[in-house]
Parts: sequence; structure tokens; C-alpha cells
Amino acid sequence: MQRYRFTNPHRREFIALGAGTAAAVLSAGLPLGARAQTAASMKIATIGAGREGGALGTLFAKAGHPVMFSSRHPEQLKDLVASAGPNARAATVAEAVAFGDVILLVVPFTAIEEIGKEHGKALATKPLVIDVSNPIPRRDGEDFVKSVNDQGGAGIVTAKWLPGARVVRAFNAIGSGRLEEGSKKKGEIGVPIAGDDPKAIELASQLIRGIGFEPVLVGGLAMGKYLVPGTPLAGEHAPAELKQLASTLK
Ligand SMILES: NC(=O)c1ccc[n+]([C@@H]2O[C@H](COP(=O)([O-])OP(=O)(O)OC[C@H]3O[C@@H](n4cnc5c(N)ncnc54)[C@H](OP(=O)(O)O)[C@@H]3O)[C@@H](O)[C@H]2O)c1
Repeated sequence: MQRYRFTNPHRREFIALGAGTAAAVLSAGLPLGARAQTAASMKIATIGAGREGGALGTLFAKAGHPVMFSSRHPEQLKDLVASAGPNARAATVAEAVAFGDVILLVVPFTAIEEIGKEHGKALATKPLVIDVSNPIPRRDGEDFVKSVNDQGGAGIVTAKWLPGARVVRAFNAIGSGRLEEGSKKKGEIGVPIAGDDPKAIELASQLIRGIGFEPVLVGGLAMGKYLVPGTPLAGEHAPAELKQLASTLK
């Protein structure tokens, strides 16, 4: 596992210390800031730091990644930062987007269009945006969810609202309260993922393995509509079981 320290507490730059996991170098074709980095050394930013964003960011921080949590109220994230440990801090969404090599989008689905308008340009330069968000009728309204589904479902719609971003859907239907336990099972739990960009998929896969889950690619972003609560892929499944379940879906 890699550990980090700030090289300059004001600029908050990180350097990697010690031997990291033998993750492949994913530099070809990536923006300058992301070049010559391994997945294990990448900076992670969360947009949204509630139950799921907080739990996922904590796993990445504890796995050695520099993590920046963000929300519209970063001043409310002090307890989360303290519990996530020395690799974590909190900031505004704009600061997190600037900081992260990889962005975790973990907000109510209704917020994504606006986030795309404000930060879409910067998000399109990242090698990977992991879309953890789901359209949920109870929270977002029946009409909103119908409209998302009519446009192709979560995934297709996320990519539409974040033009040019390398979107991979993942972690959409594993409850926040189960993430820590699942990660300890070291690859026994599969995480269904869907995406269209091969390098983003590869990077997401390495990051997911790095926190103890096994990624299972179920298809392109059009399959993102199945990566929501209430479908056969939701909940906790062994990787082989997920592959079998995914093979029955179109
Ligand atoms: N909870 C789970 O177990 C779980 C599992 C898988 C996937 N998900 C999905 O993950 C997403 C988040 O769920 P959650 O349960 O973590 O919700 P939550 O606890 O309510 O947290 C939502 C977070 O999003 C932030 N947020 C809301 N609007 C925002 C905006 N416009 N810009 C930036 N940040 C914004 C909120 O902070 P501020 O209000 O301070 O901005 C908060 O940090 C949902 O789409 C959900 O379906 C949840």
C-alpha cells in the first residue's frame, strides 16, 4: 500500500512514499496532470460527501490515496475528514474538481445537470469520472426518473450532462453501510461497472481492486440503467454470480 505526505503544507502537494502496488502505468492519451501516474497513486475527489461519498472516499483515503471530499457545504465535513484519516481533507466542489485525478460523482441524480454546467469543462479533462449516483423516484420524483429512463437511463444521461467526460458507473447499488465490510473481503464481492471508454474502465477496475472489490464489466454506458437499486445486479454478489446475472440482461 502507498502512503503519502504533504510536501508543502500550503500547496498540499503529495508525494508517494514506499513501494506501491504494481499497477500499470496508464499515461498514454491522458491529460498532462494524470500522466506517469499509477492508479494506486491517483488523487481522488468526491463531489458529494454524504453517506455513500463519505464511505467510498474513506476507503480510498485508507487505501493510501490523497482524497478531497466536497459538497456545497464543505465546512460541515470536518468529522468525516477526521475519521477518514491523514490522507483526507474537504473543500469546495471547484477545488475538488481541480485537485482530483479521478472524480467520484456521489450526489442526488438531480444535481448532475447543474454540476455539468458548472464543472463540465474541467471534468472532461479527467481520465475518469465514476458515476455512483442513481435516479431514485422516492427522492427525485417519478417524472424526473421517467425522463432519465426515457433518455436511455443513468449512464447515458450522465454522459449527456457531462459532455466529453470519461464516465464509468460503479458502486451504484452497494449500500454505504456495507462498503467497509465488503472491502475487507478482498475481492469476494463484485462491483458491476458500465462504461464506454476502455482506458477509463481499466483505471476504474484498478481503483476498485485497490479497495478490495472485484470489478465486473457488464457493458457500455447503456447498461448503466441496470446499475441502480432494485435490479438483479443490485446488492452484494460474488463476481461469478454477477457475470451470470449480467449475461441475462440486454
Ligand atoms: N447511500 C447509499 O447507500 C448509496 C449507495 C449507492 C449509491 N448511492 C447514490 O449516491 C448518491 C448520494 O447518495 P447518499 O446516500 O450519499 O446521499 P446523501 O447522504 O444525501 O449525500 C448527498 C451528498 O451530495 C451533496 N450534494 C447535493 N447536491 C449537491 C450539488 N449540487 N453539488 C455538490 N454536492 C451536492 C450533499 O451535500 P450538500 O447538501 O452539503 O451539498 C451530500 O454531501 C445518490 O445518487 C444515491 O442514489 C447511494
